[in-house]
Amino acid sequence: MLNDLSGNIQAFDERRDIAILEGHDEMIRFATRYWMETARRSISEENRFTVALSGGVTPQALYQNLCRELDFDWKRVWLFWSDERAVPPEHPDSNYHSAMTSGLNHLSIPSKQIFRMQGELESNQAAANYEALIKKSLGKSLFDLVMLGLGSDGHTASLFPKTAACLITKNLVVANFIPHLKTWRLTLTIPCINQSRRALFLVSGHAKQNIVKKVLEASANVDCPASLIGTKERKALWILDREAAAIL
Ligand code: 6PG
Repeated sequence: MLNDLSGNIQAFDERRDIAILEGHDEMIRFATRYWMETARRSISEENRFTVALSGGVTPQALYQNLCRELDFDWKRVWLFWSDERAVPPEHPDSNYHSAMTSGLNHLSIPSKQIFRMQGELESNQAAANYEALIKKSLGKSLFDLVMLGLGSDGHTASLFPKTAACLITKNLVVANFIPHLKTWRLTLTIPCINQSRRALFLVSGHAKQNIVKKVLEASANVDCPASLIGTKERKALWILDREAAAIL
């Protein structure tokens, strides 16, 4: 159970917990166990597990591990996404495409419980559609788990520094124009993530050590959107390998 994992988890501050694992593979194994135990607990309490998946490269190894978890009631899982690019689902840049082709398409999750963000639509319409879907599908505590990564500029999901989405307080999902990428993204908002039961950061590697230190040690600020995730009531969990945590 989760208490078996708690030995690795310690409080970092009043808004974040942290688990530092020796190497990348150990971190992924731990994150997989944490994901599965969180899912089992949600299913035992709520008869389902609602999770928003993150994009990027880091979680792909976790998704590959999940497809080997056969002794599990995948029919109780509801998949959502934390963010999406403005591309169709079959595009290689799509976070939906990335997660499904990393192994999730082999799981017996009913297709009616897989809710991708519609990157192929006009972004504001896609955001409005996803917000309506979340409000219809989820309870007050929104997601049981929101998976997140960390970009080297301090972005998480598609909440990039100095972009409009970081200031949104009234929406759960928004379209966000990213000037330096010259593209629109779809993203869960800070209030949506912080209203959910648990936000989980998965961060690996030497290249992230400076931004990990900055995000965790700086005060919460919109110039570093990942620093805004986590509350006293709903602490965010950071799962790191030793390299990413090297200068904490
Ligand atoms: C995306 C992700 C993004 C990602 C970080 C870290 O759509 O790209 O949502 O927030 O999690 O950029 O990505 P890596 O895991 O590849 O370093």
